[in-house]
Amino acid sequence: MATKSKNSAGNKDMTTPHWHAKAKEIQKFGEVTKDLPHPLDEKVRSKMVAKLNQLLADSSALRDMYKKHHWQVSGPTFYQLHLLFDKHFDEQVDIVDTIAERIQLLGGVTVAMGGDVAEITKIPRPPKGREEVPVQISRLLEAHKLIIKECLDISDAADDAGDQGTNDLVVSDVLRTNELQSWFIGQHLVAMPLTIPE
Ligand SMILES: [Fe+2]
Repeated sequence: MATKSKNSAGNKDMTTPHWHAKAKEIQKFGEVTKDLPHPLDEKVRSKMVAKLNQLLADSSALRDMYKKHHWQVSGPTFYQLHLLFDKHFDEQVDIVDTIAERIQLLGGVTVAMGGDVAEITKIPRPPKGREEVPVQISRLLEAHKLIIKECLDISDAADDAGDQGTNDLVVSDVLRTNELQSWFIGQHLVAMPLTIPE
């Protein structure tokens, strides 16, 4: 009878996935890795991680609100808003990933799941049902304003703390995109006639 071969860890069973894994968390939310090959000290990284997690939660909520509005929009401007909301959703997906990866590289833990985002975000939760276009857009504008203000605050704090990487990220990636999206969305609420009355 042929003997079963072993893998490098000495396990005989080399085909069954060991998938019922349960163990303690390896790092708690709010904790920051102590010793990293990065010159910023732990206190600064901890302060920046907390601020970036707030920005991450708010950006995640805005990202999801864009998809909600993309699905639920209706009316004469349906097609353009349906496409515009999805374009902004895609851009917020990139923003969320950029913020999250900076949190991890600073030794922190990202807020990730929807339920956790809902606990942390400062963006008011919209109803589950559908709302009119001006209400959808007003909600988005309020969310952009909140995020833009956070970017300005984090940028100043990062500058003071010598964290130029965070400063650059919130200005170049988050602030500028949110400013542009806010302008594109806000212009839809201007009462501009389609024709000049006789
Ligand atoms: Fe879609």
